Formats: sequence, C-alpha cells, structure tokens
Amino acid sequence: MEIGKQEGKSPHCLVLAFPLQGHVNPMLQFSKRLNYKGITRITIAVTKFFLKNAKDFPATSFPVETISDGFDNGGFEKVSPLEYYNRCWESGSDTLADLIEKLRSSGSGIDCLIYDPFFPWALDVAKKFGLMAAMFFTQSNSVNNIYFHAYKGELKLPISEPEIRIPGGLPVLKPGDLPSFIGEYESNPERSEFMLKQFRNVEKVDWIFVNTFYELEQEFLPVKAIGPSIPSWYLDKRLPDDKLYGLSAFKPITEPCINWLNKQQNKSVIYVSFGSFAQPGLDQMEELALALKMTQMNFLWVVRASEETKLPKNYRDDVSEKGLIVTWCHQLDVLAHEAIGCFLTHCGWNSTLEALSSGVPMVGLPQWSDQTTNAKFVEDVWKMGVRAKKDENGIVRRDEIIHCVSYVMEGETGEKIRRSAIKWKKLVRDAVDEGGSSNRSIEEFVSALVEPSI
Ligand code: UDX
Repeated sequence: MEIGKQEGKSPHCLVLAFPLQGHVNPMLQFSKRLNYKGITRITIAVTKFFLKNAKDFPATSFPVETISDGFDNGGFEKVSPLEYYNRCWESGSDTLADLIEKLRSSGSGIDCLIYDPFFPWALDVAKKFGLMAAMFFTQSNSVNNIYFHAYKGELKLPISEPEIRIPGGLPVLKPGDLPSFIGEYESNPERSEFMLKQFRNVEKVDWIFVNTFYELEQEFLPVKAIGPSIPSWYLDKRLPDDKLYGLSAFKPITEPCINWLNKQQNKSVIYVSFGSFAQPGLDQMEELALALKMTQMNFLWVVRASEETKLPKNYRDDVSEKGLIVTWCHQLDVLAHEAIGCFLTHCGWNSTLEALSSGVPMVGLPQWSDQTTNAKFVEDVWKMGVRAKKDENGIVRRDEIIHCVSYVMEGETGEKIRRSAIKWKKLVRDAVDEGGSSNRSIEEFVSALVEPSI
C-alpha cells in the first residue's frame, strides 16, 4: 500500500493505545491536536476488554475500533509479563492486521499507524502493510532514556553501582531513583524485560514521539517532543469543543467535587490521587488516612472502588467535616481549581505533567514503575515539590506526609516551589502555543503526512 494522502482526502491515522488509562489519555489528546491541525481522519484502536469497560461519557468524536490482546475478558494482571507479551503479540498482530484490512476494504485505508511501544509488534504489522509508523511514548523521556540504555546493555542489570551515570543530560541517579522495573530488576526480571522490549525494532520506525516538551527534558533521545498531551482547553481554552475527555475505564464524579471545591478557600485543599493502577498497601493507606485527618488542610481524595476496603473503619464519617472521598474525578478540572493547594500524587507521568501545567506543587509518594524517577525529577530537577521519605519498612508515615505538605505550601520552601510553578505553567503554554516547540513538532509530522517525501 502506498504511503500518503489518498486523493482529495486527509491522511488517515490509526492510533493504537495500550489498555491502561494513563496510556489511553495522552494518545487521545494527541489525536485531538492532530485533528486540530487538519488530520480529520483519525481512528482510535483499543483492546476489546478496555472498550467493553469504558465508562466515560461523552466519549470521543473519533471512531473507535478494537483489537484483541488475547485477554478479551480481562485477567491480564493474573499472568506473567512474558505470558502477556507472547499472547498479546500473537492475537494483537493478527487482529491489528485484520483491522487494517477491514478499514482498507471499506475504502478507508490507513496511511500511518501511531502506536504505544508497549505493543512493539504493532510496528512489524505496520511495515508489512507499508505504512508510515510512529511510536508514541507515554512515559517521560528520561525514563525512556534509562530503559534504552538498559536495552542496549550499557546499563548493566541488576544494578550494582551506588551511583548511576547515564549519558544524555540525566543527573547522577541512585538505584532508588531509577524506574522500579530497573532498580528492582531481581524481584521480577520478566517485567523489566517487557519494558526493554519497547525498543526491539526501534530502528524501523519513522517517527518517535514522546509525551513531554523540550524545555522540560532537553537533551535525551533524538525524539519529537509533542506534549504535554493534555486538552488545549486546559492550557488556553481556545478549543471549547475539546472538552470531551475521551475513553475512561472509570466513571468520573464531577459536580459534587466542583461544588465542594467551590466552598473551599483558595489554595486550602490537598488533592490526593494515585492514578488508575497503583495499589498502595493497607499500612500505607492507613498512614495516609491518618495524616489527612490530622492536617490543618481539607482534602479531596480519589480512592478507586477497588481500593475502598483499605480505608479505616468509619473513616468517611470521621472526616466528613474536612474531607471528600470519591472513586474517580475529572482530575484536570480539579487541578485547575483555585481551591487546590497541593497534590499528593503517586507521580504517574500524566499526573506529573498535569500538575506542572496547572502550577500545583506536588508531594510525591511514588509506588512503582516510572513513578520513582518522576518523583526524583519533580524534587531535584524541576523543583516542583518534594518526594516523601519511606521508613525502613517501605512506608511513608503520617508525620512525614504532614511535614511534606507544609514543606511545599509554607515558608521559604513553599515560596521557591511557587516560583517554579509559575515558570513551568508558562513554559508549558509556550511549548504548545503557535510557534512553540511541541506545536512545531506536531506541524512537522502533519506536513510529512500530507506531503510524504517517499
Ligand atoms: C500509568 C503510570 O503510572 C504512568 O506513569 C505512565 O506514564 C502511564 O501509566 P497511572 O498510574 O494511571 O498511569 O497514572 P497517570 O500517568 O498519572 O495517569 C492517570 C490519568 O488518569 C491522568 O491523566 C489523570 O488525569 C486521570 N485521572 C486520575 C482522572 O481523570 N481522575 C482521577 O480521579 C484520577
């Protein structure tokens, strides 16, 4: 199949997302940006299981198709990473090829596949069909850089050095600053290998996109930084129709949150969320619950339905005067609210970017994966918050949480973080604005799609 625009039509991009909320969100937002730049034919592909469980509405204005990762009825979390990878490779390759064929035979041939490198086999399928292909990394470029060096064998696993130096502008890292899948390689080597496989065919890809922006992470891999992939209404409110959030595996509670926040004073509320996947242990939840009860500040806490049993008995009633607990909210609306004073976060990459973009100071309680590295950068590189310290049992105790909240909110330290917040908020807007670095990367890609050089 020929690469390029079909006569008289916009090029058609198929955007294949990995079935986790933190991966689907940025790819949908990126699709909206492409759409705004004139790529009117965009089809989203998610797994059958993800779509079956999508609960959000309004959903998305793009057509949504499915592929199978071999786990149409769920259960992927119960198998080993290698088993998931192998089954997913087989079913995913077949069903992605079927989908491309189906779209082609309905007269809607694909020009470019944009895919999450957690599905590296998708690139082989794209190349089989002669399509242009673009990887879209949903994690930070620093994290990608660390994985890439481990993939090339330049960073030896398991880690034995107390200090790790990785070229490309990264600061000196300690083992605990590395993504946990690297730093804790021995506890689950298969999981680490899953992450490294993202790069197994990288030399064949036409474009590499990362959900970041140059001003934030300047010197690492030679990639196109196109982020932060968050709605443009959030950044400058110029595209009102962009308000659609897209597919969510969770049902958001919006009005009660905003009504409650409207009654709170400026910068008086701690927003707490651990994203869509992290599962803090019972002890950690208890320490967190007690810390929130003891602070002077009110709080809005997202406790997913699957985690609710970890709350202390009668906790909701005990804290009803000062705390609102919901199972899921529209986080962007919440972070943009003037009542929010700080964000107690697991430092998922999307949450980190969203807090940076809205100028909200962070207290990092990273759980695993890339979150440990993100928390390191939040504190030491971007100076947007502090990483809470664990005790010898790996738990962040209540006193530490309370201390960290005042650290980011009060005194000289709070003042410094507020200055960084103003800086980052402006740099984000500049990057995505007309003429900005992320905006230029997207325009370059769109031009290549419209006027392919081959
Ligand atoms: C995971 C990883 O942790 C993350 O680092 C990786 O880059 C993507 O996969 P997740 O743990 O869910 O993602 O965290 P995060 O990246 O922060 O993404 C969560 C998304 O859900 C954010 O876009 C956030 O705005 C949204 N969210 C979260 C809501 O809309 N409502 C909520 O109540 C909580």
